[in-house]
Amino acid sequence: METNKQVPKLSNFALLKRMLKFVDNPIPFLLENAEKYNGIYSMNLGVLNIVSTNHEFAQHVLQKKNKNYKKSYVQTDTLGQYVGKGLLTANGDYWLRQRRLIQPGFHREKLAALVDIMLDEVDDYILKFEQFAKEKKVFDICPLMTELTFRIVSKSLFSTGISDAEMERLGNDITEIQEFLVKQIRQPYLEYWFRLSGQIKHTLKTSKSARNLIGGIITGRKSSGEEHNDLLDMLIASRYEDTGEGMTDEQLLDESLIIFLAGHETSANAMAWTWYLLSQHPDAVQKIRDEIKEHLGERKPTFADLPKMQYTMQVIQESMRIYPPAWLTDRETIEDDAINGYHIPKGALVLPFIYGIHHSEKYWDKPEEFRPERFTKEAQKQRPAYTYLPFGGGPRLCIGNNFAMMEMQLIVICLIQRFNFKTIEGQNIELLPLVTLRPAEGIKMQVTTINP
Ligand code: HEM
Repeated sequence: METNKQVPKLSNFALLKRMLKFVDNPIPFLLENAEKYNGIYSMNLGVLNIVSTNHEFAQHVLQKKNKNYKKSYVQTDTLGQYVGKGLLTANGDYWLRQRRLIQPGFHREKLAALVDIMLDEVDDYILKFEQFAKEKKVFDICPLMTELTFRIVSKSLFSTGISDAEMERLGNDITEIQEFLVKQIRQPYLEYWFRLSGQIKHTLKTSKSARNLIGGIITGRKSSGEEHNDLLDMLIASRYEDTGEGMTDEQLLDESLIIFLAGHETSANAMAWTWYLLSQHPDAVQKIRDEIKEHLGERKPTFADLPKMQYTMQVIQESMRIYPPAWLTDRETIEDDAINGYHIPKGALVLPFIYGIHHSEKYWDKPEEFRPERFTKEAQKQRPAYTYLPFGGGPRLCIGNNFAMMEMQLIVICLIQRFNFKTIEGQNIELLPLVTLRPAEGIKMQVTTINP
């Protein structure tokens, strides 16, 4: 096969013409060009960016030739300066060592211990929604889901070791870091201004404040000698295979902050979109209720129930196909390479465009339609690999995927058991692809209780 075809390149004029819209929401532009150039094209944004909606491209970069692709400076340096060096932000040997150390703690069976922590948090939101139902209150589901998933990840990490006030402070700090990060990533040409105006310094200060708070919790836990059976206990107890030693306090801090950052907004957005989709598809709600009736009745779900709740799982999977929280990922090419005959030069940024893959007619019949049936076991077997990748793929597959699926199933089951969700009509539901894919103006909803 020819291995030196040039990837089609967009003219800078084409890019410039759409720059303002591109900064706001790049998805329509990226989709349009994927269609035009048959799934692969490049743009010069200072460095060469190669975008693709081809599943073989994604598999090549993330799995088959993953050793030739490292996380880009955006994740290692830009994000790394605020959250430190750890699973999400490291490359090479350091990353592998951390991954081997931490992976066992995220195995499905190990997570069973977190179910009660998660259910306790969901209980508080049941009370909140009951109150909303009484008051016929119109609310935005997005911040509520962000709060809930943030509380779940906080308590899964630190259980009783973190107070409500600390959670609120940490939540604010992390939101502030994320908001500034998006500016830095989208507008790299303003870097000098960000530095000059003190915005970078301010965000580093915020990150220090978050680190101090987490550092205090870690020291407190270590000196107390208490056992909590949470993620922090798991991180503290884990030992490197070669030395038999555990992580330093600094490493524990980095990994905890990273779990916070990676582990709540993604699930929050997946949940917000799921409630929106369910409010539009009463037939799917009914099927979830049938499943609840068959396996649970009015009791709460347990860890053992979750695999039986197959349709609920399919709804969440389909929601993350249509609205993948991680809508794009990126890697930097270490050495020259070739994919499907195309030359991929060293130093290029390669971007498996997850949203584009999930919406490609090549892989999905009527991709814009919500059809949870796409995720029956039989249907999944028939699809080529890397056509569905909400959690990425290869060795850097999301370490929290089981955690997230478990958390989301619990939330959906417990709330559908009690409430009907209705989206207020006449809203503009548009995409806002920041680090994760959010509804641009939130989603206003109302709830009613099922058995008033
Ligand atoms: C719906 C929820 C979630 C989605 C869609 C999601 C998506 C992803 C994706 C796509 C990646 C790979 C990024 C890449 O290859 O460039 C990733 C990595 C990661 N995720 Fe998640 N995630 C979710 C929830 C979570 C949760 C709950 C946690 C922790 C509790 C978590 C922790 C991480 C970490 C630490 C990594 C880096 C792994 C590594 O590079 O070794 N994620 N996630």
